[in-house]
Amino acid sequence: MNKAQLILALDVDNFEEARKLIDDVGDVVDIFKIGSQMFTSYGPFITRYLQSQGKKVFLDLKFHDIPNTVASAVKSAVGLSVSPNHASGFAPLFMLTVHTAGGKEMMEAAVKSAQTQAKALGVSRPLIVGVTVLTSTARDVNLEKTVLERASLAKESGLDGVVASVEELAVIRRELGNKFLIVTPGIRPAGASQDDQKRAATPAAAIAGGSNFLVVGRPIIQASSPRAAAVQILEDIKSR
Ligand code: C5P
Repeated sequence: MNKAQLILALDVDNFEEARKLIDDVGDVVDIFKIGSQMFTSYGPFITRYLQSQGKKVFLDLKFHDIPNTVASAVKSAVGLSVSPNHASGFAPLFMLTVHTAGGKEMMEAAVKSAQTQAKALGVSRPLIVGVTVLTSTARDVNLEKTVLERASLAKESGLDGVVASVEELAVIRRELGNKFLIVTPGIRPAGASQDDQKRAATPAAAIAGGSNFLVVGRPIIQASSPRAAAVQILEDIKSR
């Protein structure tokens, strides 16, 4: 399996803060996750800002609705792959999330819509990953079973992978194989604050468990040097 990659969750209050952070870490971080906080305020403006710098955008809007509405939302998301002014070096949308709780028909509709729209626009299709159970949800007896059921359904529906906590990594890898992508948020370097994450794990544990993408937000954003914090995690990844 290829080395895991770092994704920085761009969960900040405004565009100016985002720009500063991107400038600070831009030479070491390639993939940025845009979630509901930034997208609600800045929409395509923030994604295009990153794409115009050749950065990969992970659009984490966790689509969860009736199949037709999710298919339409995915179609709009794939539209973000096209530069409005045909700028060279503009990166297509890299990855997006849907919620596995939306069911098989919804996930299949998402994949089909992405394929159709990517073909129509002549761009590569973004990876589609399914959120299983949020890492801020506390452990309970049925959690692992629920995560595995949802991950299996995501695979059957044609998704490229899932978002899951490091605690469920091993079982998903074992059951769903090496090609299925696993994106792990809730990453906390040893000694860092857990914040609201209830199933957090260190970068080392995520890498050892076979994560493909480590999503990190506050441990980098709130560090006195975000770049140094990102470099530390990248070194952890490299050394495994
Ligand atoms: O700041 P922190 O590192 O906890 O950020 C984690 C990011 O990953 C947040 O943007 C959050 O929305 C996202 N996420 C998560 N758990 C999931 C899916 C996404 O924490 N299951």
